[in-house]
Amino acid sequence: MREFWQQQGLRETLLTAVDRFRQQYPWQGQRPLAAPRYHYYGREIIEAAVTAMLAGENLLLTGPKATGKNVLAENLAAAFGRPDWNVSFHINMDAAYLIGTDTFRQGAVEFRPGPVYACAESGGFGVLDEINMARNEALAVLHSLLDFRRILDVPGYGRLRIHPAARFIATMNHGYAGTRELNEALASRFVILQLPVLDGDGVERLLAAEFPRLMTPGRRQFAALFLDLQQKCEHAQISSKAVDLRGLLDALRLIELGLSVRQALAMGLVNKCFDAEERELVEDTIALRIAGSMTAAELFD
Ligand SMILES: Nc1ncnc2c1ncn2[C@@H]1O[C@H](COP(=O)(O)OP(=O)(O)OP(=O)(O)O)[C@@H](O)[C@H]1O
Ligand SMILES: [Mg+2]
Repeated sequence: MREFWQQQGLRETLLTAVDRFRQQYPWQGQRPLAAPRYHYYGREIIEAAVTAMLAGENLLLTGPKATGKNVLAENLAAAFGRPDWNVSFHINMDAAYLIGTDTFRQGAVEFRPGPVYACAESGGFGVLDEINMARNEALAVLHSLLDFRRILDVPGYGRLRIHPAARFIATMNHGYAGTRELNEALASRFVILQLPVLDGDGVERLLAAEFPRLMTPGRRQFAALFLDLQQKCEHAQISSKAVDLRGLLDALRLIELGLSVRQALAMGLVNKCFDAEERELVEDTIALRIAGSMTAAELFD
């Protein structure tokens, strides 16, 4: 990660500070360190996020879908040399799920730690994924964990002091139906970064890294297509459903494996729209950039 961040132009002082953190808290536990599959692109955002981690802050990453929130969180854990614990928040989750519960083992009651407890105890990087999806009652147990107290109260077992290397990174997707706002008390415990949608250069770099066999013209075309969709969305001609970087990468993966370009783009992008009229608009946008007759052989070498 260090090398990649250096290429991205991250300030040397930050890189050395991360090195110092790693020396101060070498990971010796059983759990494997985070090994991210993707790199997050965006120097300014990385610098801000690294600074927040160094300062011991909790970090909330917000932004539209597929803006790399989880990628960035994983990258941070890897860079700081800590394992990550991913906790997916949902409407039915309760405090016991986060902290842990009593279980019976060989006739005796035993505490089985939940992911937040385990992470806090061993000094991991906890990713509180889609934190706004849980009910406020379930979230209240996090208050003392996430403020200056840095403790976790476990009813019946006392309190856990959080390992000094532990960090919590929450993610939250705003802007689509079904998402809720984060309550103020919780939001106040985080510093917040809004992740931007990748620009054209960023998309091209991502495509180059992800598809080494994709030739330059194809890379440009697909990046341009993504920007077209983004623009249509900004002008309210289509919804954000088809503005989906994840779907674009999926489509290219299918094409590389031999599926027709049209079918792959339908599966990755077009069919995300359930409204026939919108689907047609997305198809038209695609047709302007990518010929229906295009084959994998023209795209990949
Ligand atoms: N700035 C970026 N740098 C690197 N990859 C990016 C970036 N933005 C988006 N991506 C790509 O988008 C895809 C989705 O990333 P990720 O799962 O982290 O998104 P997310 O913001 O968590 O999305 P969601 O809100 O839908 O959960 C990945 O393939 C990732 O590589
Ligand atoms: Mg995510």
